[in-house]
Amino acid sequence: MSRIAYVNGAYVPHRDAAVHIEDRGYQFADGVYEVIAVQGGRLVDERPHLDRLDRSLAELRIRPPMSREVLRGVMREVLRRNYIADGSIYIQMTRGVAPRDHAFPAKAATSVVMTAKRARVQPTQMVEDGIRVVTVPDIRWGRCDIKTVSLLPNVLAKQQAKQAGAYEAWLVDRDGHVTEGSSTNAWIVTKDGKLVTRAATQAILNGITRQAVIKLARNNGLKLEERAFSVEDAKTAREAFLTSTTSHVLAVTQIDDTVIGNGKAGSFALKLRAIYLDYAEGPGASS
Ligand code: PDD
Repeated sequence: MSRIAYVNGAYVPHRDAAVHIEDRGYQFADGVYEVIAVQGGRLVDERPHLDRLDRSLAELRIRPPMSREVLRGVMREVLRRNYIADGSIYIQMTRGVAPRDHAFPAKAATSVVMTAKRARVQPTQMVEDGIRVVTVPDIRWGRCDIKTVSLLPNVLAKQQAKQAGAYEAWLVDRDGHVTEGSSTNAWIVTKDGKLVTRAATQAILNGITRQAVIKLARNNGLKLEERAFSVEDAKTAREAFLTSTTSHVLAVTQIDDTVIGNGKAGSFALKLRAIYLDYAEGPGASS
């Protein structure tokens, strides 16, 4: 079955989908994106994802290419044409095609690309044993709150993790504090059972999964602090875990060479994962 992509108004076979060589996304990484999960045919947390997309566009002064209503229609058509009920949709918008010049072009239509793919099942062993992260310096720019396609430091960090046999890289700022993962948010649980994750400043992407887990944790009576934590805090924590649209909630059981807890996914991570998956499958995430 052939995959279908959406490119600037047309539904085209994935293998033929292409943008112009002078698309500013290609030349300057001058664009933004979103990844939204689809579960049981429903888009998980669609509204907050589209709100964040609007915000990213506004911060970079890229014109929204279509109304939200039309965008939602195209998203559904992409999912329908790819027969996806469980998976994810990728939406990318760039400042458009124009002769190469760093400053904004006077006239350019925002480019829109969408693809969809089926979900990969997370192996039970990965969920139960947790995963390993390695720590690397955070060399990104000062606006990590914008979900831009300019991801080179994230790409280098993830590659470093992969080469070290780890699942993710945790990025560490100049003060020795963890900001987030290369494509996930970072969390720890302190010895006295308090959840800690970095505050949503310009230093991190305010993950939609992060925001959902914060709400769910509070609703379930868990103590939570949004603040910076050091690599040392993480290595001596009771538990650690990460969150993202595609990883959900996943225990981190090794940081560099330090094993966290007993090296198995802990009760906080497993409970929050169950609560989150329940929420994602239910009506709360589609309102
Ligand atoms: N990554 N931090 C960074 C740097 C990210 O790129 C992501 C998302 C997150 C988690 O955000 P959310 O919970 O909204 O998925 C945090 C996506 C999935 C990606 O690049 O594929």
